[in-house]
Amino acid sequence: MKSNTREAAGLIFNSRYTCAFTGAGISEESGIPTFRGEDGLWTKYDPELFDISYFTANPAESWKLLKKLFFETFAESRPNEAHYVLARLEQGGLIKALITQNIDNLHFEAGSRNIAEYHGNCRDLVCLRCRKLVRANDKIIGNLPPVCRCGGTLKPDIIFFGEEIPRKAALKAQKTVNKTDLMIIVGTTGEVYPASLLPIEANRRGAKIIEVNTSPSSYTNVITDIFLQGKASTTLKELEDEISILTG
Ligand code: APR
Repeated sequence: MKSNTREAAGLIFNSRYTCAFTGAGISEESGIPTFRGEDGLWTKYDPELFDISYFTANPAESWKLLKKLFFETFAESRPNEAHYVLARLEQGGLIKALITQNIDNLHFEAGSRNIAEYHGNCRDLVCLRCRKLVRANDKIIGNLPPVCRCGGTLKPDIIFFGEEIPRKAALKAQKTVNKTDLMIIVGTTGEVYPASLLPIEANRRGAKIIEVNTSPSSYTNVITDIFLQGKASTTLKELEDEISILTG
């Protein structure tokens, strides 16, 4: 166990309003590639292909990539121990809210419920014409690009580069940041605006920061109080075990 895991458990046990902030690293052990770092998606694909202007100009081409990189990968992926630990901590009242940048729905599948999905979620598709939401399934993405009953093109209900953060998620995340006195950051480089500002804002308001990552991020030497270096699944399980000793 890392020397500072016990200290981190003590902070969680004594905090009033702990929240979690997660990125692609928490889903890496579920077989979902991260975006940055070696083997990251952005080493293989140009992020421009995930800009809303590219999607609206080339929906069929864009959908081919989205289906391969997201829908087919997500269909094979299941929550890992890290997702389950955060869900159990929420069920036990030790985590009050979770903000995720991920679109893979794994936090919901693991049992987390008070979730702000800051970049949306691949669970649904949204019509570019009538804005209707349609649940994603193999049939509907059988023909690309999928088309709404109204004739409009359907887009995954996720935030492309160049799009606004969903208003509901932004408000929910801001409420969490305003209330939290302890944020557990898991598996993010902290490089994508405006999501990356949330931990900084929480810290500015006085929240303590625990960070779980396999390597240092842009937060580590700036706002992180306790850095637990390691894979999210084993590190969060060790943290949960330490908390269980305190809760008895
Ligand atoms: N356990 C813990 N951390 C891990 C693990 C793991 N098993 N594997 C990788 N990491 C860490 C990496 O060290 C890195 O800091 O996860 C982080 C992944 O970083 P990114 O790929 O940049 O993902 P993220 O920070 O979530 O990206 C934010 O960028 O491209 C956009 O919209 C996309 O939501 C995404 C946003």
